[in-house]
Amino acid sequence: MNNFSLEQSILNHKLSFVDLELEQIKQNNLYRKLRYGKSEQAHITINGKKLLNLCSNDYLGIPTTKIKIKQMQSSSRLVSGNDELYKILEEKLAKHKSQQNSLIYPTGYMANIGSITAIAKKGDLILSDELNHASIIESCNLVGAKISIYKHNDMSDLNKKIKEKAKNKFVITEGIFSMDGDFSKLKEITEITEKAKAITILDDAHGDFVVGIDGKGTPSHFNVANKIDLYISSLSKGLGSFGGYVSSQNNVIDLCINKSKSFIYTSALPSFLVEYSLKRFETNREKQRKKLESNTNMLAKGLRQMGYQIDSKTHIIPIIIGKEKTALDFGEFLFKRGVFAQPIRYPTVPKNKARLRLSVTAWLSKKDINTVLSIFEQAAKQFKT
Ligand SMILES: Cc1ncc(COP(=O)(O)O)c(C=O)c1O
Repeated sequence: MNNFSLEQSILNHKLSFVDLELEQIKQNNLYRKLRYGKSEQAHITINGKKLLNLCSNDYLGIPTTKIKIKQMQSSSRLVSGNDELYKILEEKLAKHKSQQNSLIYPTGYMANIGSITAIAKKGDLILSDELNHASIIESCNLVGAKISIYKHNDMSDLNKKIKEKAKNKFVITEGIFSMDGDFSKLKEITEITEKAKAITILDDAHGDFVVGIDGKGTPSHFNVANKIDLYISSLSKGLGSFGGYVSSQNNVIDLCINKSKSFIYTSALPSFLVEYSLKRFETNREKQRKKLESNTNMLAKGLRQMGYQIDSKTHIIPIIIGKEKTALDFGEFLFKRGVFAQPIRYPTVPKNKARLRLSVTAWLSKKDINTVLSIFEQAAKQFKT
């Protein structure tokens, strides 16, 4: 054995636990692999097969915006990467959220990590909905505060848990839950936080630009916009651009600039993406929102008529299947017939709560939705939900 293959075999041996772990994932039907494709408007093409895309977060389907790329990158924002377009977009986003100021991060995930770790600390109490997104859970875990998980949207559980003594108390929830498509009970939550003098943090990644007056998001939908202390959102979903941001009062934004590691120690989002967001922000979003609403109603109504249990009232429509293997088979059935609806499994959702998460976009035409419905009608015979 030469030196190289000897080293290789030692390395293989040292890393054999990786194979074991992968094998376990496969045995539990939880193995994930990347599929390469090209997304364009209502479609995605995978291995040459053109499918209707029901997995896109580009909810508003704003027609593609032309921008000129001058420079891709400079450095972090606190060094020389702070393009003047940031200021314009941040001011617009602050107004959009009726807040004093905003701060853009490279992604929504980084906005969660950066802002939650900046504002909360050891000795505090964070109350977090049990279905909150992984980026919220990870962020809370980094804080070192006591984390108290309340049952999903269960206000009596939240009311009970918020009574615990702590220096500062935070309640964090999503606006529209990413995997269930249901609204958080934001009106009740803000009443509870107000009474307990707790700080309300809202991750509205899926409600922003989509619901509420002029797409101002879930708080506007519930008329509690002035009760949210810290907004976190993504530019990569409803707006169909890229990036994340937070909106709050000036001192909170200042603290984020000074403490968020995911803001300070990373390269600035390329300025052409800021320009892209700005241009999309200025389009006729209302027209797209109306189309999305009508598409959502049409798909949900059609599915209900076929006997699928659809509880969602939003553009995120989960069809709960249960077993991971059945969800995979269902996804494959749709794939073969030209519909892309990726099965969602543990750990993204609880075990045995595997589902197809359909996301509606304004890219879809009525004809597209009728096609999708006819395929789900065929599926209904085989996959009872
Ligand atoms: C609720 C929620 N928050 C945050 C994020 C992260 O946003 P981004 O994709 O911009 O990193 C996601 C992404 O799926 C999400 O669903």
